[in-house]
Amino acid sequence: MNHEQAWEQRLTDTLKMVARRPDIKSYVEQTPWLNNLLQRAAGQYVAGENRQDGHAAARRLADAGYKTSLEYIGENTADVKMCQAATEEMKSLIRELGVSGDRVSFDLSHIGLSIETDLAYRQLMKLAEEAQSASVELFISMEESAKTDRILDVYRKAVSHYPNIGITLQAHLNRTSQDLAAIGDSPRRIRIVKGAYQEPTEYAMSRSAALDERYLALVQDAIQRGHRVSIATHDERIINGAITLGLLDSGSAEFEMLYGIRPELSAKLQAAGYPVRIYVTYGHEWFLYLCHRIAEYPPNLYRAVVDMASDEAVEPYRAYIRTP
Ligand code: FDA
Repeated sequence: MNHEQAWEQRLTDTLKMVARRPDIKSYVEQTPWLNNLLQRAAGQYVAGENRQDGHAAARRLADAGYKTSLEYIGENTADVKMCQAATEEMKSLIRELGVSGDRVSFDLSHIGLSIETDLAYRQLMKLAEEAQSASVELFISMEESAKTDRILDVYRKAVSHYPNIGITLQAHLNRTSQDLAAIGDSPRRIRIVKGAYQEPTEYAMSRSAALDERYLALVQDAIQRGHRVSIATHDERIINGAITLGLLDSGSAEFEMLYGIRPELSAKLQAAGYPVRIYVTYGHEWFLYLCHRIAEYPPNLYRAVVDMASDEAVEPYRAYIRTP
């Protein structure tokens, strides 16, 4: 590791720590000038604090021809009432989306998994019922490997009642090809990501060409099993690999990227005729989300500083529209 990489690693570790410190978060919230400044930086990745902000960003993207996923940001909720409130917020989101073919994504730990597995299942069933009548897809995110078994158990139980539920699988975990096989061959909705969490080396592979190969093999396997697959990455090597292997030709795969990250790449793929979905987030937990986005790609710190100092509105949307 050279000097620059060592500093990037320190920044990443520090931001991950800062994101988890409730005292820092409440200091930011209670310090208006700091809160406003950081919220400007978060504007690159988060549509706003309210559901209406999420809807507005998703609608603009839909008007420009993108499919969307929406997430009310939150995770590791340790209070039953807050889990119930998050479920209610998501139910309202689903109801308002209506028959739009949109997708709502969430962490099971936002709706009870950190308290009790069965609480998350019960909240999920409420969401699934609402989503089924609104023809909205629900998508479960994948969290740390310590939770993988419980998340998959909840998913398997729920999807047998509501096939409109999808699951996210992390290519970096060594177990994932078995998990994919265990989902079986009934057509399901699967999102493949590299994996955002720091995992012990005995469970997971780090970022490398071998991980990219494994990622593409998982996508291929999922398509062959008849699943609909979201190729959720910003990595051009994987995206080009998927195109070269013809994985988009079956009509059962799409690209999916986080709002505000590499919008010019989304625009390029969309202009080339590939289906692209943008994952839009909103909510009060933007501070946590901002820390994660910078931690996973430290050069985003430069953008954050520029956005904080700029007089112009932070508006990632424009970059999604490709001018001929
Ligand atoms: P990688 O991290 O190797 O980055 C490849 C290239 O993409 C970088 O060199 C850079 O050019 C660009 N890039 C990546 N991140 C960037 C950033 N923040 N800002 C700017 N450029 C960036 N994870 C998880 O564990 N559970 C989950 O449920 C989900 N859900 C999810 C949904 C969707 C729609 C996406 C796109 C991603 C997730 N993730 C996730 C996150 C995922 O695991 C992974 O951490 C990120 O996508 C970053 O990895 P990449 O595949 O982009 O590759």
